[in-house]
Amino acid sequence: MVNSLDFVKVTESAALAASRWMGRGERDAADGAAVERMRASLGEMEISGRIVIGEGERDEAPMLFIGEELGRGGVEVDIAVDPVEGTNLVANGLPNSIAVMAIAERGGLLHAPDSYMKKLAVGPKAAPYVHIDAPVRDNIEAVANALEKPINDVCVVILDRPRHADLIRQVREAGARIKLISDGDVDACIATTIESTGIHVAMGTGGAPEGVLAAAAIKCLGGNFMGRLEPRNEEEAKRAIAMGFGNLDRVLMIDDLVKSENVIFCATGITDGDLMHGVRFFGNHARTHSILVHASGTVRFIESVHRLGARPGK
Ligand code: FBP
Repeated sequence: MVNSLDFVKVTESAALAASRWMGRGERDAADGAAVERMRASLGEMEISGRIVIGEGERDEAPMLFIGEELGRGGVEVDIAVDPVEGTNLVANGLPNSIAVMAIAERGGLLHAPDSYMKKLAVGPKAAPYVHIDAPVRDNIEAVANALEKPINDVCVVILDRPRHADLIRQVREAGARIKLISDGDVDACIATTIESTGIHVAMGTGGAPEGVLAAAAIKCLGGNFMGRLEPRNEEEAKRAIAMGFGNLDRVLMIDDLVKSENVIFCATGITDGDLMHGVRFFGNHARTHSILVHASGTVRFIESVHRLGARPGK
């Protein structure tokens, strides 16, 4: 029987490996180190795991490719991973990079194509009152009402990209505050569900695989996440259709992204962030900070102290 804490050890090992590369300007090296550790840790688990969201197609990435089977045998699970969510953040020593993973029974997680997705995420109180197709102002007003706050208290997190110029203008016109982030929308979407973060809405377009990962956590935490695929070109659109997405304009509700009612989500901070502290080294030890959430709604924040050198890569 797998203990869900064992999954946390997987993201911890990836975060520890990636954190060695913090600020060194080498995003691929940080990613490679985390991938290697995550793969080795998953390989040691008593699961029959299959990667459904990973580091790319078999030909593109030698490790953690979509369809790769991992584990020593046991309960059959589908696994979505992002060993370093926010590779630029690690490379530049910026906040909110995390090692992240969601686990569900077979078929429980959407096989999202490596494309873009328009996203809307909110916490539990606002969950019933927003819709991805509603005007930006209406969604912000709905969140303000649900949280019993004036609109100018509401904080919307948006990836700082030219494609979001109009969205940013609309949010400003509605009177809400904005936190622009350079990368890392998984952390940002999840932050909407945790009151102490002061982040109330996440809006905009980012990676589709990251959308599934965020949706897994948000489903456990009782918030709402809606998405719509936004292929960047004809080729991505064709690929999505080949993967079974009949109507690309369809709104993907949280239960479309995460069918499972038994999903587990965990993440470990690499650099300091809104949800978790980053990896801290002291003496011959390192401290990690992780979040583990279950479909039951239980949220665990886990601090672990690791003796370094105990295992390769640590
Ligand atoms: P990586 O971890 O692959 O570097 O992705 C970081 C990220 O910022 C995601 O959080 C986000 O969904 C996506 O990239 C946005 O893509 P783009 O940088 O092309 O706008």
